[in-house]
Amino acid sequence: MGKLGVVCLILLVLNFSFGARGEPQVPCYFIFGDSLVDNGNNNQLRSLARADYLPYGIDFPNGPTGRFCNGKTTVDIIAELLGFDDYILPYSTARGRDILRGVNFASAAAGIREETGQQLGGRISFSGQVKNYQNTVSQVVNILGDENTAANYLSKCIYSIGLGSNDYLNNYFMPLYYNTGSRYTPEQYADVLIQQYTEQLQALYNYGARKFALIGVGAIGCSPNELAQNSQDGRTCVARINSANEIFNNRLKALVDQFNNNNSDAKFIYINAYGIFQDMISRPSTYGFRVTNAGCCGVGRNNGQITCLPYQTPCQNRKEYVFWDAYHPSEAANTIIARRSYSAESPSDAYPIDIRRLAQV
Ligand SMILES: *[C@@H]1O[C@H](CO)[C@@H](O)[C@H](O)[C@H]1NC(C)=O
Repeated sequence: MGKLGVVCLILLVLNFSFGARGEPQVPCYFIFGDSLVDNGNNNQLRSLARADYLPYGIDFPNGPTGRFCNGKTTVDIIAELLGFDDYILPYSTARGRDILRGVNFASAAAGIREETGQQLGGRISFSGQVKNYQNTVSQVVNILGDENTAANYLSKCIYSIGLGSNDYLNNYFMPLYYNTGSRYTPEQYADVLIQQYTEQLQALYNYGARKFALIGVGAIGCSPNELAQNSQDGRTCVARINSANEIFNNRLKALVDQFNNNNSDAKFIYINAYGIFQDMISRPSTYGFRVTNAGCCGVGRNNGQITCLPYQTPCQNRKEYVFWDAYHPSEAANTIIARRSYSAESPSDAYPIDIRRLAQV
């Protein structure tokens, strides 16, 4: 290679590794969700659903932050792909002009329903997250000077919203604590969830949100915790749970069509996390995974009976595990989910468009 070639290569590498510098593709990114994307909001709560201790964060530059992962969550990686030079701060610590880049409102154990996750202690339900967002909007109005400027600004931001997992895991399929499982069929339950979800999403719209990425629920019946409890061979996913998740996801995708038809000034998309997940566990070697049915850190059958304990030693080969603990994907799995949400690799990954195009509309 000539000298010029070397210089070009170096420039290419520099450009790639500092690709996050400069203007992001959208001015701000607001995040709503549960432990899959919580980045510290639960640290201040009296809750069993906390991850502000090692080995959580073992592969994250700042160590344990409250993320339920060894490293980055999907929204951390999506923020990088959108060109942000830093992660979006949690609502609990974002102050002043920080909020103009967006805020992460997610809270572990939270659901669409108010009571979801209550056996774990404090949490901020989706309606609580929407209230916190409304409070943030009034601060944005104060910073930018008036409501029209704020509305124009917020209309360019991406809003990613992923709730529902806990409404199954820590509600519908937890008969010792909740009676929804006997009150509703899976179809009826999906309908009540979607109805409540619709109202809260409409509230976000009323407060300026225009670019929505609605993340479907994953295949909860394939989590190490469900495999440990309800799978005979510890490998076959729990069909009863996955089928309830699929009913919810189908309704959510249909809701995207409804919202797009009713609101010509907004764009809603659906992210098929379930499908991306199924693909990872059915073709693990494509992605460098060797273990799909056990957590890297955990206790008991499938490392899934008890979740990763404080100061427990996790597995060494974390890139080879789809799951970090009994419930949560590893950074390696989050990277695949985030990349395919941002830039679809299969037509079924994102509907009707992916996040990269949502940023451009
Ligand atoms: C869309 O509009 C139809 C007809 O007015 C209405 O029945 C439906 O509830 C609306 N859905 C949403 C999500 O706005």
